[in-house]
Amino acid sequence: DLTRDFLEKMPKAELHVHIEGTLEPKLKLELAKRNHVELAQKTIEEVKSTLQYDNLADFLAVYYEAMQVLQTEQDFYDLAMAYLKKAAKNNVRHVEIFFDPQAHESRGISFETVLNGLYQATVDARALNVDAHLVMCFLRDYSRNNAQKTLEKALKHQDKILGIGLDSDEHNNPPMKFYYQFAKASEAGFHITAHADVDQVDSINHIKELLEVINVERIDHGTNIVENEDLVSFAAKQKVGFTSCPLSNGFLSPDLKGNEVKYLLEHDVRVCLNSDDPAYFGGYITDNYEAEVEKYNLSADEVKALAANSFKMSWISEEQKQFYL
Ligand code: HPA
Ligand code: ZN
Repeated sequence: DLTRDFLEKMPKAELHVHIEGTLEPKLKLELAKRNHVELAQKTIEEVKSTLQYDNLADFLAVYYEAMQVLQTEQDFYDLAMAYLKKAAKNNVRHVEIFFDPQAHESRGISFETVLNGLYQATVDARALNVDAHLVMCFLRDYSRNNAQKTLEKALKHQDKILGIGLDSDEHNNPPMKFYYQFAKASEAGFHITAHADVDQVDSINHIKELLEVINVERIDHGTNIVENEDLVSFAAKQKVGFTSCPLSNGFLSPDLKGNEVKYLLEHDVRVCLNSDDPAYFGGYITDNYEAEVEKYNLSADEVKALAANSFKMSWISEEQKQFYL
């Protein structure tokens, strides 16, 4: 049955994890010391006491504040390796990792410093039996012009970046703001995905734009799609994947969105479970499966479908998928 041990050992892919969201309190303090950054917090307990939020904007403020400790290529490498070791322990065989270069460039850290550190960790993860790739996100609360400049940098490093996503503060930042950048990214051969965080103002309209106009391959969170039956049928037909993150949803909305996940499975929509920002929302991928199983009494068939979907929705080649499914 669905013991912790079974959920941990089950091979899975993780498609929605922000590398900056894997910065554990202990590593935050170590990097602050290494880089001589003066933090307001001196102990792990004090860092943990900052992890309080019940909406997206308040979470993002804490998440961006912590990034100041990330300065060198080695820091980004260490951050990613710490996550990848946890991924290996959770039997994550394939991972597509989000990163936010604009959040670092705005603090004076170069695009290459960030990318090279993270990329080297994905190369070294092969020794851990984890197939790791990078997905660059535009910050949707920054200007379109800033996204355009960031896309141009990504185009110079296309060998190291698998796809393009969209994250950060969604309020008044609809997907259409980046219509042109997504079109260019897709034309250049990047895979594309975007966040439609749970229970945001205009969630269903943002989801509609993503499906009908931007033509994303996946939507991150996006479970508010259940509000519109026609969109659910469309997503099923087009095989658009939804990356739900139960523990994250538990912080930013009234529940873990397990009923929505079950509904999407029943309606043949591809959906899988992920950790989002595990250092901020109380757990890694197995913890997310465990919470969803317990709260919503998921069946073994539902759990197996979620894990199979994680590979089906991934951006690995069709031949490689056969190996996992
Ligand atoms: N939503 C939006 N932006 C983010 C998130 C998220 O869950 N995590 C990191 N940046
Ligand atoms: Zn996210």
